[in-house]
Amino acid sequence: MSAKIIIGTQFGDEGKGKIVDCLAEDSDIIARFQGGNNAGHTLVVGDETFKLHLIPSGVLHEDKTVIIGNGVVIDVKVLDEEIKSLEKRGYKIRNMKIAGNAHAIMPWHKDIDNHEEKLRSKKIGTTGRGIGPAYMFKAGRTNAIRMYDFKDDKRLAKKITEIIEQNKDYFRRINCTYTEADIIREYTAIAKKIKSCICDTSILLNKALDDNKEVLFEGAQGTFLDIDHGTFPFVTSSNTVSGAVCAGAGIGPNRITEIIGIVKAYTTRVGEGPFPTEQDNKTGERLRKQGHEFGTTTGRPRRCGWLDLVMLNYTKNLNGLTSIVITKLDILSGLDKIKVCTSYTTGEYPGDLEDLKKASPVYEELPGWTEDITEIKDYKELPKNAKDYLKFISEKLSLPIKIVSVGPKRTQTIII
Ligand code: GDP
Ligand code: IMO
Ligand code: MG
Repeated sequence: MSAKIIIGTQFGDEGKGKIVDCLAEDSDIIARFQGGNNAGHTLVVGDETFKLHLIPSGVLHEDKTVIIGNGVVIDVKVLDEEIKSLEKRGYKIRNMKIAGNAHAIMPWHKDIDNHEEKLRSKKIGTTGRGIGPAYMFKAGRTNAIRMYDFKDDKRLAKKITEIIEQNKDYFRRINCTYTEADIIREYTAIAKKIKSCICDTSILLNKALDDNKEVLFEGAQGTFLDIDHGTFPFVTSSNTVSGAVCAGAGIGPNRITEIIGIVKAYTTRVGEGPFPTEQDNKTGERLRKQGHEFGTTTGRPRRCGWLDLVMLNYTKNLNGLTSIVITKLDILSGLDKIKVCTSYTTGEYPGDLEDLKKASPVYEELPGWTEDITEIKDYKELPKNAKDYLKFISEKLSLPIKIVSVGPKRTQTIII
C-alpha cells in the first residue's frame, strides 16, 4: 500500500500536473482533495498539451481511477466541459468518481467572487471562479449544494429554488438575477451525465488502501496560498498543505506514506501578495519569457523571482515533506549566475505579513551553465554546475531530490 501526496511548495504552478501525470503510471488511483477549477495543471504528452482544472492529472492513463474528493469545490459546468474536451481528443473517462459530500460551485458564487474583488481596496487577484464564496457557503452551512443533491433532480431543483428565493435581495444588490427555470434546466441536464459517478469516495479510498493499492493525491495551488499558513489575505480559500488530504479525501493520517514537494527551480506568483525574492526587472522578464510564465487558468503574466530557501524550509515543516522534485531546471540554462535566497535579514520566515514586508532576502550566488539540458535522461549527464545547484538545494533543505524535470513533456524527466 502507498498513499503519496504531491504538494506545491511555493505559490502554485510548480509543475504539479506534469509530475502527477508521470507518477500516475505506477498508481491505481489519482485523487484531488482541495481547491477547485482555480487550479490549472498542464500535461504535455507527445505533441499534445492538456490543461486540466478539475479532473485529476492521472486521467490520461485511462486504466486508472480518478477521484474528485470531498474537499474540492466543483463547478459541474467546468467538469462537463473538461470531460467533453478530453473525449473529443479520444480519451475515455471510464473510471471517475466524485465525492457526494463535495460542494458545488454555482453561478452566484462566481458573481459574488467578482463583486467582492471589485469592492476590495487591496485586490487579492482571485481567479474569479467562485472558489472563495463556495467555501464560504460550505462553512456557512445554509444555501449550499452538495454533489449528493445532483443524484436527485427534485432535490436539486428544490435547493436551487430555495437559495435563489432566500437570497434574492442580496443577489439583486450585486446586480445579479437568476432565472430559476434556466438554472434548474441547465444543472439537471449536467446531473444526468455525472450522477453515476457520485458516491462516498472515502469508502472507496480506504478500501483501496486496505487492498494494497497505490494512491496518489494531487495537491492544487501552493503552500503559501494556504488559507491558514499562506500570505493571508492573499491566499486561496482552502488548506493546500498535505494535512488537508485527511479531511479532503476522508483518510486517516496513518495511511500516508510519502509527501513529495514540487519545487520550481525559481519562484513565480500569479495574483497579488508579498513575494520577497521577486525580480521586477530584466531577470524576472527573462524567467517569464523563457519559462512561458503565464497563468494556465487566467492567462495572466506570472511574477517571477529567485528560489527562496527560507520559504521552502518553512514549507518542509508545514507539509512534513519526505522528498522534493525540482521542475523547470532547463529554464535556468544560459544564466551566468543563479541567485538563491538562503536567509532573511530579519531571521526565519515570519508568519505575520507586516514582518514579512520588513524582511529582505539575503542571496548566495551559484555559477550557471550554458548547456541545453532538455534531452538529458540521466542525472549523471547533467552539467556539473546544474548538479551543484541541485545538491545545494537538497543539502540546505536536508531533503532528497526524487525527480528533476527538464522540460514540459512526460519524457523530459530525470528519475534519481
Ligand atoms: P501546476 O499548476 O503546478 O500543475 O503547474 P502549471 O501547469 O500551471 O505550470 C507549469 C508550466 O510549466 C506548464 O506549462 C508545464 O507544461 C510547464 N513545465 C512543467 N515542468 C517543466 C519543466 O521541467 N520545464 C519546462 N520548460 N516546463 C515545464
Ligand atoms: P495551481 O493548482 C497559482 C491564486 C490566485 C489568487 C489567489 C486566490 O494551478 O497551482 P482564488 O481564485 O483561489 O480565490 O484566488 O490564489 N491561485 C493560484 N495561483 N496557481 C494556482 O493553482 C492558483 N489557484 C489560485 O491567482 O492570487
Ligand atoms: Mg497551475
